[in-house]
Amino acid sequence: MLDLKESLSAIHSTFMDQLNLVSSSSEAENLRVRFLGKKGELTAVLRGMSSLTPEERPVVGQLANDVREAMETSLSEAMLVIIEKEKAARLNEQKIDITLPPVTGELGSRHPLYKVIDEICGIFLGLGYTIAEGPEIEYDEYAFERLRLPKGHPARDTQDTFYISENILLRPQTSPVQVRVMEKSKPPIKIVCPGKVYRADTLDSTHSPIFHQIEGLVVDYKVTMGDLIGSLQLFCKKLFGEDTKIRLRPHHFPFTEPSCEVDISCWGCGGKGCRICKSEGWIEVLGAGMVHPEVLSGCGIDPEIYSGFAFGIGVERTAMGRFGIDDIRLLYENDVRFLRQFR
Ligand code: PHE
Repeated sequence: MLDLKESLSAIHSTFMDQLNLVSSSSEAENLRVRFLGKKGELTAVLRGMSSLTPEERPVVGQLANDVREAMETSLSEAMLVIIEKEKAARLNEQKIDITLPPVTGELGSRHPLYKVIDEICGIFLGLGYTIAEGPEIEYDEYAFERLRLPKGHPARDTQDTFYISENILLRPQTSPVQVRVMEKSKPPIKIVCPGKVYRADTLDSTHSPIFHQIEGLVVDYKVTMGDLIGSLQLFCKKLFGEDTKIRLRPHHFPFTEPSCEVDISCWGCGGKGCRICKSEGWIEVLGAGMVHPEVLSGCGIDPEIYSGFAFGIGVERTAMGRFGIDDIRLLYENDVRFLRQFR
């Protein structure tokens, strides 16, 4: 029995010596297995208990339990310290330097055409207009007939249209949205409609078969040509600068009467004549006019009571002028070297 007692205290003190040397949780675990595990040194000693008398057994058994408990307590106390230390070391190792520049993907930017669309719509929203949209695949009826362009009308030839079937086409202008809005709503109407339009033009530096327009429409009591001119003057100053002047030239659109084309004083030379305006001093930016009474009545609006004006802005031309772009094709090629300039 003495032997066993000595062995137990020898194991305990060796264990404590070893525990003092342990510096990591894996070493601590090895120590636990070596001394306290099923095949550990303590278990081996306890096997010797079979040689003891029945009286001696509980005494040694109690001692063995005390030793085991003492070892376990020491071990778990040491573990707590080791785990804390390891955690601190790990945190130190994983320290993040927040002063380093972040690794992020490259941010894209708004396409120059959509920058111009946003800007133009923004100006009109500020003037109390709302945004309307219409289909790009349109009925001949809305694109032409109800805009006073019956089949066979010579003016149809000026807009080479993509037909899908006899009565369905890709809209060659945003003006059909006028009809769609007027037949659905009652005056006062004040809308702008941005969107894509399609014409069978060959792609070159100034033409594209797909381009963008913004249509404007105002219908209310006693709307006059003066209102149209005042509104466009205000709009052009806001978009092209306070010094901008506008000039109206008589024109013909079947759905407006009277009709005009609107030029602005050149943003390059202010009207003196330069390369940008081809020495003209003026640049054409808009088509406009008073909505034809027959178009109004065709949409259920009484032209004896109401009148209205409409205008159409070419987005590409405006963007090209604003950003000094000399070839329309650059706007569609998605070359990032080009697009990056409009951040
Ligand atoms: N839709 C015409 C065009 O494409 C422009 C326009 C719009 C003219 C509205 C008058 C009124 O040329």
